[in-house]
Amino acid sequence: MKILIIGNGGREHAIAWKLSQNPKVEKIYAALGNAGISHLEKGECVNLKTVDEMLEFAVKNAIDLTIVGSEELLVEGIVDKFTEKNLKIFGPDKLAAQLEGSKVFSKNFMKKYGVRTAEYETFSESSAALEYLSHAEFPVVVKASGLAAGKGVIIAKNKEEAEKAVNEIMVEMKFESAGSEVVIEEFLVGYEASVLSFTDSETILTMISAKDHKKIGENETGLNTGGMGAICPNPYMTDTVEEEFRKNILEPTLKGIKAEKMDFAGIIFFGVMITKKGVYLLEYNMRLGDPETQAVLPLLESDLLDVIDSCLKRELNKIRLEWKNGFSCCVVASSGGYPEEYKKGYEINFDVKDGLVFMAGVIEKDGKFLTSGGRVLSTVGLGDTLEEARKNAYEILGNINFNGKYYRKDIGEI
Ligand code: AMP
Ligand code: GLY
Repeated sequence: MKILIIGNGGREHAIAWKLSQNPKVEKIYAALGNAGISHLEKGECVNLKTVDEMLEFAVKNAIDLTIVGSEELLVEGIVDKFTEKNLKIFGPDKLAAQLEGSKVFSKNFMKKYGVRTAEYETFSESSAALEYLSHAEFPVVVKASGLAAGKGVIIAKNKEEAEKAVNEIMVEMKFESAGSEVVIEEFLVGYEASVLSFTDSETILTMISAKDHKKIGENETGLNTGGMGAICPNPYMTDTVEEEFRKNILEPTLKGIKAEKMDFAGIIFFGVMITKKGVYLLEYNMRLGDPETQAVLPLLESDLLDVIDSCLKRELNKIRLEWKNGFSCCVVASSGGYPEEYKKGYEINFDVKDGLVFMAGVIEKDGKFLTSGGRVLSTVGLGDTLEEARKNAYEILGNINFNGKYYRKDIGEI
């Protein structure tokens, strides 16, 4: 079986690593991939950038399954294009991808089907948004509706900050067309959890919950990043919280998917906030999380290809996921300066015999590994306790060095 994975982050390396454990998998191509994937025995990176190039490659090379890592191409409709050509692809079609691609669409979906979420209003004119702010209670959260690589969400403490956000998003068009509509919503206080799940549109099967660390600085300070680490399971996801999540978020979501006749095999990632008033859905992502995937997949005992296959056959109800006991901790090492300006091209020295390392911004040149991105790689430690998992992740990271290496020392401190 030949698989094509689209993406080049640590998430895609983790997916490739997990899939490569299935003996039926003979080859894993990645577009564009990274040095971690090309170093897998079955891995090979291919230079494909557009959907048309990927389609042509999949046909020519008789690819049996394509898996899309990140959201942009899903929203563009890559799944519809592959399906039209009878190519198997794991991910939401263009309609279902709107659950991530448009916050206006997803909030309206939540409201229509009774999924518990923060109170909100949507606006397509800046004047109406500004008028609303003149009598709103603060803080509020102002969100560009479209995809903005995680940067389009602004927590505004007061009216001035909220007006500034609306102006940046809707007038200055800082996030281009992603800002032609905004959502302004109630600010929630609590603990966040990432619940990744598989779906075939008939069943939603959750994975163990995770917790990511989004800020560059320790104690959740400084700028937002793509994610500096993650742990699994999320300690705040207790049985009671989980039960509430199922009743107020998962079940109404599934009802909505069926009622809207969304028909796809893919991932739903519920980004939730656990508050004193209950569990709220902040957002849907329609793909796996990065770095959550690097923490979750190493705990998954079940074969990933079998699960994906059952989604594609609309037989997910036959699957029971098996998990390892214990905890995992994923710590990201980034290039000094990230998420702002940083330098690339530094040699990475590995002294790792055992242990999981997932590469992201790493290329191989003349037999050397060089940094090529902001988030360079992540290490994953497993353990019977969270403490042990953390210790193992940091121990592996201690044996990897490159110029400007930066990492947070408090991943998994909760
Ligand atoms: P989103 O893309 O909607 O998940 O928002 C990105 C991040 O902004 C979330 O992971 C939260 O940290 C924060 N956030 C979003 N919505 C809210 C809210 N209503 N209250 C508090 N924080 C929020
Ligand atoms: N870690 C959050 C995300 O992948 O969007």
